[in-house]
Amino acid sequence: MSKTVLPDHMTDLLSPVAVKDPYMYFGKYREISPVVWNPQWKGWIFTSNATVREGLAGDTMTSDRITRFEDQLTSRAGGDQNADIIYRTMVQWIVYATPPRHTHLRLLLSKPFSPRAVKNQKAVVETIIAELLDELEQKIKNKPGPVDLLREYAAQVPARVISRLMGIPDQDAAKLGHWSEELTLLILGAMGAEDRHSRAKEAFIELENYVRKMVAARRKNPGTDLVSDWVAARDSNVGLTEEELISSCILVIFGGHETTMNLIANSLLAVHQHPAARQALIEGSVDSAMAVEEFLRFCGPTRSILRDVAKDHEVAGQTLRAGERALFVLAAANQDPGAFEDPGTLKLDRSPNRHIAFGTGIHQCLGAPLARLEAQVAIPEFVRRFPGYRVLTEDPEWQPLLMTRGLKALPTEVL
Ligand code: HEM
Repeated sequence: MSKTVLPDHMTDLLSPVAVKDPYMYFGKYREISPVVWNPQWKGWIFTSNATVREGLAGDTMTSDRITRFEDQLTSRAGGDQNADIIYRTMVQWIVYATPPRHTHLRLLLSKPFSPRAVKNQKAVVETIIAELLDELEQKIKNKPGPVDLLREYAAQVPARVISRLMGIPDQDAAKLGHWSEELTLLILGAMGAEDRHSRAKEAFIELENYVRKMVAARRKNPGTDLVSDWVAARDSNVGLTEEELISSCILVIFGGHETTMNLIANSLLAVHQHPAARQALIEGSVDSAMAVEEFLRFCGPTRSILRDVAKDHEVAGQTLRAGERALFVLAAANQDPGAFEDPGTLKLDRSPNRHIAFGTGIHQCLGAPLARLEAQVAIPEFVRRFPGYRVLTEDPEWQPLLMTRGLKALPTEVL
């Protein structure tokens, strides 16, 4: 039996240096061992491209990391009935499901996210982004001064796109964004936020009420939107339960918001820091699809994902036991020198670029074609509209989140 254990001074996953530069921080883990035990976090940390891929794609790990929290997340813990709502919803999420339930759900939910469906959504996305850029330009004309690009632009893109695809009025898009941000506190591991449970619970209750009303309205009056599609899947008796339908709507609102917002904001910061990339985007001399793949690799929004060990096994000379937990650091896998040439350099025309910013294996992101489309329009169009934009800090603050690589704000002079 073998276990390589990190030294004490390297165990704080949210230390200032780990939050500021996870690539360098987890690179040091990789140098010790690509799979290593963190005694403070009490779990295995995977940091090489090969071990992350293998662990996510194989059958040694399980995604069901929710049922064991049943006691903690339900009224059994402290008699709080409302706590149940979080567990009841999350336990239905495809992202925690295991086969065969996962296979069944994926089939039922995937229609609106197929590459073909997304191709048809291109015009909608282009219109929304043109509208958002017009609104931003007008806002700056009316009130000159710095803006927070994270909230004023990056967050607006997914909120408005998913709202329109779900048939939700634009004026409610901001509410969806707010609820998503509150849920992030709980789900994506904000270790420091003391009030995270109560805030996330409130957001959950409001969001669930909103979604239930929306589903009822679409049932009465179906449209051509994603929710009507899923209501039809539910009502045609193919096996999507009412709870799965409601929970999946919540997952899509939440899952697509933070991630896409952070991809856009992280990329606009990277462009600010790399003048050659800015020039290439302004001139249109780089393919936007290729550029987005490189942004996903270089500064993608998913820092890491969680699994539980499903069965005893050995990997990279370590002995893992069923029931232990594991953190797969996508940020490290995507900048592993064993898999990418010059991994710390932003090369917008990088080829090949086999990053795993959307995960890999059966849970690989369902919304990836939509996220790619949004980023391929939102990033180059912003740079072309405001070619001289300037981020007002050289040392921006990052969210101290275990699973997310995202900024607290992106104060910018938009020119
Ligand atoms: C840049 C944007 C995005 C990134 C980086 C991203 C990343 C990911 C990752 C890493 C996973 C795998 C999680 C795991 O294995 O535990 C995932 C799953 C998922 N994502 Fe995304 N995501 C993005 C946008 C979206 C969007 C826009 C949607 C929907 C509107 C979405 C819906 C989902 C769903 C439903 C799953 C679960 C799939 C399954 O379990 O089979 N994501 N995403």
